[in-house]
Amino acid sequence: MTSSSVNTLAQPLGEMPPDAIVFGRTDAMQAVRDRLTKLAGANVPVLIQGESGTGKDIIARMIHAASPWRTGPWVKVNCPAIPGTLLESELFGYEKGAFTGAYGMKPGRVEMAHRGTLFLDEISELDMSLQSKLLQLLQDGQFCRIGAQEDKKVEVRVVCATNRKLEQEIENGTFRSDLFYRINVVNLHLPPLRERATDIPELVAYFLEYHNRKYNCRARALSNELMSELRKYHWPGNIRELENLIKRYVILGNEEVISSDLTPRDSNFFNADLPVDGQISLKKLTRQAVRELERKVILKVLQNCHWNRKQAARALSISYRALLYKIRDAGLPSNRVVKRREEDAPKRDVAAD
Ligand SMILES: Nc1ncnc2c1ncn2[C@@H]1O[C@H](COP(=O)(O)OP(=O)(O)O)[C@@H](O)[C@H]1O
Ligand SMILES: [Mg+2]
Repeated sequence: MTSSSVNTLAQPLGEMPPDAIVFGRTDAMQAVRDRLTKLAGANVPVLIQGESGTGKDIIARMIHAASPWRTGPWVKVNCPAIPGTLLESELFGYEKGAFTGAYGMKPGRVEMAHRGTLFLDEISELDMSLQSKLLQLLQDGQFCRIGAQEDKKVEVRVVCATNRKLEQEIENGTFRSDLFYRINVVNLHLPPLRERATDIPELVAYFLEYHNRKYNCRARALSNELMSELRKYHWPGNIRELENLIKRYVILGNEEVISSDLTPRDSNFFNADLPVDGQISLKKLTRQAVRELERKVILKVLQNCHWNRKQAARALSISYRALLYKIRDAGLPSNRVVKRREEDAPKRDVAAD
């Protein structure tokens, strides 16, 4: 996706999953659907909050598609993708001669969204001065191109999204509370996928069918064991991660690619207590982290292959000899008799390795 984009009817909003898939069955998503239906017709700002990959983009596009200005422009601005100094001219435009290099007038994204939807993605990235300009836009529909003498008026539906807790940003003094109240007239909170585990089988079936069709493949439905593993997984990348896994499975055609891609919950090495005021050896830490990750991936694949080491080596795309070496090197048990002890063992502390 480009950092900012304008869609008109000539450029449709892209293929959307059916509503039943987007909203699934959980109460939290049903509440989102109810709110979306109620708010779509009214031109009020909407704030969509949720972790990365929970569907904020999709929901924003649905709001536009259901609004009275659905035939108007859909303008998306991905705030962090545009360097701070450029963001102001990108959003509000400039007059000829406003600054060195401004050889002609350029309208901003706000103007382009006239009688349509302006979607500001990752709104917490706006600096304080842009936050003030946005506040003015929301208060009286007016804004000023850089270098212009007069304000201009525009009619836009503003939809904002963030994966951050804006309340916390306000407390830190990096987000204006008055702007927060303006953009937060209606709030849609998208739950993380781990809180929507009941929806996982339908999502999997949908992505499987979709990518089989797209890549002209015939990958089969997942086994019950893998499906139950997916339902228990913590999904740090949410639906985007699930979709990517299924895409890889469709293209590569074996379930091992999925199991080995599930990152262990405690794989965040930055949680380890680093000696911040002492000496840190980046090389050493990185080596430890890589070894620990390798060890976990190998253990996982061995479990999935029912401890068949030849099959595990194939799934890992390494030679049988290399796998035997790595099993020994990582201190993993060499056969299934002792594997239970290993699986039940307490987690090792990476930094203390
Ligand atoms: N509710 C959903 N139903 C089906 N697919 C979804 C859903 N939410 C997200 N996706 C898929 O996951 C990916 C990420 O969604 P996106 O809307 O870009 O998330 P966000 O903007 O919150 O990071 C997209 O490719 C989309 O196809
Ligand atoms: Mg997004």
